[in-house]
Amino acid sequence: MAAQLRAARRPGRALAVLALAAAGGLLAAATVGSGPAGAAGTTLRDLAEAKGSYFGTALTQSNLSSSTITAIAGTQFDMVTPGNEMKWDTTEPSAGNFNFGPGDQIVSFAKAHSMRVRGHTLVWHSQLPNWVSSLPTSQVQAAMEKHITTEATHYKGQVYSWDVVNEPFNEDGTLRTDAFTNAMGSGYIADALRTAHAADPNAKLYLNDYNIEGLGAKSDAMYQLVSSLKQQGVPIDGVGFESHFIVGQVPSSLKANIQRFTALGVNVAITELDDRMPVPASAANLAQQATDYAYVVNSCLAVSGCVGVSQWGVGDPDSWIPGFFSGYGAATMYDDNYQPKAAYNATVTALGGGTSPSPSGSTSPSSSPSSSPSSSASPSVPPTGAACKVSTQVSAWNTGLTENVTVTNTGGSDVNGWKLAFTLPGGQTVTNAWNATVSPATGQVAASNLSYNAAIPAGGSTSFGFQANHTGNAAAASGFTLNGVACTAG
Ligand code: XIL
Repeated sequence: MAAQLRAARRPGRALAVLALAAAGGLLAAATVGSGPAGAAGTTLRDLAEAKGSYFGTALTQSNLSSSTITAIAGTQFDMVTPGNEMKWDTTEPSAGNFNFGPGDQIVSFAKAHSMRVRGHTLVWHSQLPNWVSSLPTSQVQAAMEKHITTEATHYKGQVYSWDVVNEPFNEDGTLRTDAFTNAMGSGYIADALRTAHAADPNAKLYLNDYNIEGLGAKSDAMYQLVSSLKQQGVPIDGVGFESHFIVGQVPSSLKANIQRFTALGVNVAITELDDRMPVPASAANLAQQATDYAYVVNSCLAVSGCVGVSQWGVGDPDSWIPGFFSGYGAATMYDDNYQPKAAYNATVTALGGGTSPSPSGSTSPSSSPSSSPSSSASPSVPPTGAACKVSTQVSAWNTGLTENVTVTNTGGSDVNGWKLAFTLPGGQTVTNAWNATVSPATGQVAASNLSYNAAIPAGGSTSFGFQANHTGNAAAASGFTLNGVACTAG
């Protein structure tokens, strides 16, 4: 704890650290001795910066009066999102009356600690003052444009990015009905982005939403929207995946989904990460949370267009979760006493720091994407003929797909080291894989285990997945053999 409460870093230090990194200098030299309990000698922000990324948090005005919270925020994180202070109900509570005081306080804190700011948020159906929703539809566009212009101009040059539109979609991928769609239809989104760009041309402009982290109807809708905005030349730089997860339920398609968005030419940011569980927290759930955090961080680090991860809040006591999800909590990396949890250690390790293993040994999640194929494949697979069953699950979009494969060892003996051969439908080309190495990319393909999932006990199963491009045939792979023995479908 003492280390966490060390004096705030001087402004400009982050830049110095980045300059060191750029010069090929050793970051460790700049950060010796700064680690909190449980980690080995460095901070989330230093580790993230060494990888060209950032690690952020959300802060509210009231958090600024807690020396515990500010000490952690100012040392561990290098990006701040105001939790509420830049939302419409605070910044323009009545028509034309602007109040930037609370947001300015967050920006001052950020500047004093060499942190950047994610502006959040200009247009959102929630925390929207009644006067806006009560306007005649003919006046909403002008009110929206004035709000965006005034706020983005006030913060011009002071924010790294804006969540220009927040949470535009319903769960089924249709656009949410609100004051803005009622007045302008879907066109309000392009209009909001263009207006924000005119006010602050250097801010990165984002659309932000929840339940778009994995492949599915809602993320498909965001994907189509971003694709069409890009085609029309509308200024859009990124998509925010809020990432309010439940332990053990982080979508396995997270990395593939990040990849398909970045392939459109936009960045992705994990903007509001937390991982809730029923409270009081069980040891198993805390261990799973560590696995989940590492998985999210690894998934972002694995894709160059994923610019960084922000947690929503600093610690469990200041998290929004208990107030919004009854019976749930313990959703952040810091516990009730602001001590780092297993999720913190797992995050440090995922960021490439630390030598102390996380308490749960949970930094090699079974569902973790593989980013280093060379460290993985078993050199030779013993020909232990095993009876097997294989099930597949494909999620496809117009030109690509992800496929998850689960193989069950239905034989009487354990398998140790496996190679699952199969046939890809014509036109499919594998672009990456997780939990296995897959090669070649087309035709007759074999998936080989990684070091951490070589064993499939008798009766047990393991899963891996891959992403592929396709030319129209998005069918599942077929003709599976496990270590040379044909499997049944199931
Ligand atoms: C939450 C804040 O944390 C709470 O304090 C507030 O009462 C409600 O909003 N998605 C978002 C954030 O984009 O703005 C929300 O923040 C959490 C969900």
